Amino acid sequence: MNSIAKPAAKPANPNFSSGPCSKRPGYSVTELDVSTLGRSHRSDIGKAALRAACEETARLLELPEGYRVGIVPASDTGAVEMALWSLLGPRPVDVVAWESFGLGWMNDITSELKLDDVRLLDADYGELPDLSQVNSDHDVVFTWNGTTSGVVVPNGDWIADDRAGLTICDATSAVFAMDLPWEKLDVVTFSWQKVLGGEGAHGMLVLGPRAVERLESYIPSWPMPKVFRMTKKGKLIEGIFKGATINTPSMLAVADYLDALKWVDSIGGQSATIAKSEANLAAIKGFVDTRPWINFLAREPETLSNTSVCLILDLNETQLKAMLATLESEGVAFDIGAYRDAPAGIRIWCGATVDVADIEALLPWLDWAYSQVSDGVAV
Ligand SMILES: Cc1ncc(COP(=O)(O)O)c(C=O)c1O
Repeated sequence: MNSIAKPAAKPANPNFSSGPCSKRPGYSVTELDVSTLGRSHRSDIGKAALRAACEETARLLELPEGYRVGIVPASDTGAVEMALWSLLGPRPVDVVAWESFGLGWMNDITSELKLDDVRLLDADYGELPDLSQVNSDHDVVFTWNGTTSGVVVPNGDWIADDRAGLTICDATSAVFAMDLPWEKLDVVTFSWQKVLGGEGAHGMLVLGPRAVERLESYIPSWPMPKVFRMTKKGKLIEGIFKGATINTPSMLAVADYLDALKWVDSIGGQSATIAKSEANLAAIKGFVDTRPWINFLAREPETLSNTSVCLILDLNETQLKAMLATLESEGVAFDIGAYRDAPAGIRIWCGATVDVADIEALLPWLDWAYSQVSDGVAV
């Protein structure tokens, strides 16, 4: 490919990282309601903010009756570990994994919890395992969107309505960007730092009624750290789901999350955030479909993620590194290298806080940077 002219316009916001993700359009830290700062998280004002974060999340996600939302420590990882440690044990477990996070959960279930009746249904980067193999009598642990491969579960048709096991779903790069079949999901986790561009630190744990039933009827054989404890004397600690967090949260991160939720509401709710994310993917798809040198890592179109869009290029590793460095030094794309365990390539976050105008402004730069490195100019 011959060198092409350097594009004139740059993305107004070059933040395309897959986590922490870009702040919402128009974000300003000075606009946060920081009236809770310096106050106890258990004061009326502190608890009201925490409770609003739970309730607004449930309202905007249109969760079914009986689903609870709690704020827990340690971001999405904390929420997932809390679920695994508290719920697994009584039934065989199917772990469905097709990239590094799903494989990480498998490791924790077998090496840390030391459960032995565990099946791994896995697939290589770019592919999705055969979901029809999941046994509905087993508990199943899976990620809705594989953030490091850009491969997403296309729907919940494979989850039985009359399942006996629980479905535990790490949906951190899906919630607010994809329509989730909540009734089929007994536990869902996500973090603030993904689709809504919030801060790290706290995780969201969504529990359906069947998960609560398990919590109240089963006591794991292993010790339970205080930050994982969701029951007391065999009963769910309801306060966790009403803003009475287990330990002290960052009220600044909470204020930031409330700002993000207010923004979601102002643009029309979840359907608007999903549409924004889908428009971003559509812009990249139009580009990829007309270039022979770039392709999605996801093999099947119906498994193509609309948040963590992973791309492979016909460049060697040195050329790829040079391309990423060029894009960064031009100030047009930060943090778009593939995840360390994934095949080399680029990953462009397309969640709701990324404006399609910025994706559209970035794409000509990919053409230009590719031409630079494939001509040997920047290698
Ligand atoms: C699927 C998945 N699970 C878990 C995590 C870890 O999230 P956190 O760092 O918010 O705990 C990530 C982060 O990218 C992820 O993509």
